Amino acid sequence: VTELRLTYPRRIIFGWGALRLLPEEARLLGRRPLVVIGRNWLRTSGRLDPILDQLRSAGLQPELFEGVEPEPTVATAQRVTEVLRSGGRDSVIALGGGSVIDVAKAAAALAPLEGTAGDYFSGREVPSPGLPCLAAPSTAGTGAEATKNSVLLDPQRKLKASLRSEHLMPSVAIVDPELTLDLPPAPTAHCGLDALCQAIESYTSLGASPATDGLSLRAAGLVASNLLNAYRSGDSRPAREAVSLGSLLAGIALNNARLGLVHGLAHPLGARCDLPHGLVCAILLPAVTEFNRQACPDKYRQLELELQVAEGQLPAHLRRLNTEMQIPPRLSQLGVAPGKHELEAIVAETMPSGSTKSNPRPASPAEVEQLLFSLL
Ligand SMILES: [Fe+2]
Repeated sequence: VTELRLTYPRRIIFGWGALRLLPEEARLLGRRPLVVIGRNWLRTSGRLDPILDQLRSAGLQPELFEGVEPEPTVATAQRVTEVLRSGGRDSVIALGGGSVIDVAKAAAALAPLEGTAGDYFSGREVPSPGLPCLAAPSTAGTGAEATKNSVLLDPQRKLKASLRSEHLMPSVAIVDPELTLDLPPAPTAHCGLDALCQAIESYTSLGASPATDGLSLRAAGLVASNLLNAYRSGDSRPAREAVSLGSLLAGIALNNARLGLVHGLAHPLGARCDLPHGLVCAILLPAVTEFNRQACPDKYRQLELELQVAEGQLPAHLRRLNTEMQIPPRLSQLGVAPGKHELEAIVAETMPSGSTKSNPRPASPAEVEQLLFSLL
């Protein structure tokens, strides 16, 4: 190892009931937080009001931004940024899935700057730290609480772009598996398979290091061994805990090691079809695993040992997991049928992605097209 860098939130708190620490952790960041949440989960689960009450009891003056969509847009990030710019807010609390956390991180970073969210998603650099951000995920999968990037959709251009900066890293991550107990089976599967994919891709990435390998491998084992149980028995606390922890560890790993071809393809594909990110990743993962194996057979063997899968059987094992969670093997079964033009555009956008460049086996445009074609 010639150089090793490892970055993660300044403070990570994991465990059952960890959310009770939210008021005291939030107080260390500011007194006037903007609390960013999604469309309805926090309200319908009855958790929102007690959380806001606890913040007020701790002497904070929270304001609520409600309604971040599941695959959030640049426009939503702009709206949250404007609320922060106009409202005298001094910190941000993100309570929700990866979409909520991604929007909150971007808005917190952009609040003190000039320019629109669109400018920064088009490549303008974030030059300095923004408002401090605390992230508490309500799903187990994206690892967004431990990453320095924000993935947003530009629906006009049918583009999913990633804003990446050290200044986007949340200051504090509070990961409480309790919040995931309410998650229905389908999002449990999709988010969990995103985490599994991120664990595997960060492990085999060209950017992997001895420091990330341990995190990735453990994350893969935790998620692969427990996700089916979390999917079938949502109230299983051991299963929820294992998947939440695996998701967090995979997030730290991918933030430092980057990913691979699944994520390179998933963004342009996801921008064109209205499907959850984790679902797209789950369908791509077995085929990409088959494609990649020859580039790093030892690493795939290690994964098989960790997942207790026979040699060479990882793709079959991943397909079985998908089937058990009602995820079809082909995109066309979900109504995705890109024409030749669109297929070429997806391939063209996949090639320059940082994830594609970190893939252990270099892939030509023709190989990527063939791989995608085989899954239609
Ligand atoms: Fe992902």
